[in-house]
Amino acid sequence: FPLKEFNTFGISAFAKAYTAVASLQQLKEVLGFYKETQVFLLGGGSNMLLINDIQKPVVHVLLKGIEIIKSDGSDTYLKVMAGENWHDFVLYCIKNNFAGIENLSLIPGNVGTSPIQNIGAYGVELKDSFYSCDVIDIKTLEEKTLSLTDCNFGYRDSIFKNEALGKYVITSVTFKLTDLNKPNNYQLKTDYGAIQSELARLDETLSIQTVSKAVINIRSSKLPDPKIIGNSGSFFKNPIIKRSLYDDLVRMHPEMPAYDVDHDHVKVPAGWLIDQSGFKGKRYGDAGIHEKQALVLVNYGNATGQEILDVSHKIQKAVYDRYGIEIETEVNLINE
Ligand code: EPU
Repeated sequence: FPLKEFNTFGISAFAKAYTAVASLQQLKEVLGFYKETQVFLLGGGSNMLLINDIQKPVVHVLLKGIEIIKSDGSDTYLKVMAGENWHDFVLYCIKNNFAGIENLSLIPGNVGTSPIQNIGAYGVELKDSFYSCDVIDIKTLEEKTLSLTDCNFGYRDSIFKNEALGKYVITSVTFKLTDLNKPNNYQLKTDYGAIQSELARLDETLSIQTVSKAVINIRSSKLPDPKIIGNSGSFFKNPIIKRSLYDDLVRMHPEMPAYDVDHDHVKVPAGWLIDQSGFKGKRYGDAGIHEKQALVLVNYGNATGQEILDVSHKIQKAVYDRYGIEIETEVNLINE
């Protein structure tokens, strides 16, 4: 079964078996059927690099539906099924005046996979409006609800990448958003420099609509559209390093940007490190580094997962040799 259409990197890989599930009942039946075999769960396919073919049976989670489950003053709780497209859900919220996720406009992928890496952009993370998620335990088929604290969210991190790796299928996510049709004291988040300049350029009344528009403009000017050039967004995480190391480095590289994390740590943009190492816009066959954002690796057509991976290793080595900083991949490397 060809997977090229189902991964935003556009890698041509194949699966031995593929099943799409559209209801909880079907999902449980399929998991029950494959009991002894590990399955490969597929959502929007937007954060993975397929390095070779998938031997496990692929289960494509296509559960759909958005439901308002509770209102409490201006707090509105929406339960969104895992197979809903993330950006379509953001647009639904913008249209209905539900605030909280407008800064996360145009992020590829599905709602059900958004908690795994705690998607984030322009000063907002998923965890800021996450209330809970429903999961099915793959082994026992037991249904459970995990709270915000259960999920243990961090920067591009959660329980689903650690203790609970491979344990659950996320079937829905419940968000706590602010209904702007009701009296509220919602604050837009516009601190991020790029947002401020884009809002100034747009020169429209401040609202979740204009913030979303600004984010869409910024993202489309810097990040390649996966429908045109295969990619998985940021390929690496921004490394968090000791402040003492940063202080040493900045003496040699006075332009080096950094954001405070805590007293002893700062986060350095990997895009800057890769750009300074000379990789921006480079191309090796059909694998390359995006010309407008060095953090994004791209597939110009027929690159294999291995070719993209080789480029990523070259980058990691060059950045390490130059700065002594190890950059970790953000994208899930699928190597069976
Ligand atoms: N920079 C360069 N050259 C580049 C790219 C970036 O010098 O080629 C510098 C910029 O000038 C800026 C700094 O690096 O000083 C940060 O760049 P940017 O604001 O574009 O953000 P980022 O740190 O590269 C992160 C997220 C993005 C998210 C943006 C906006 C990670 C791994 N990436 O990128 O998330 O959209 O901030 O909030 O945290 C994603 O996860 O897929 C993703 C796109």
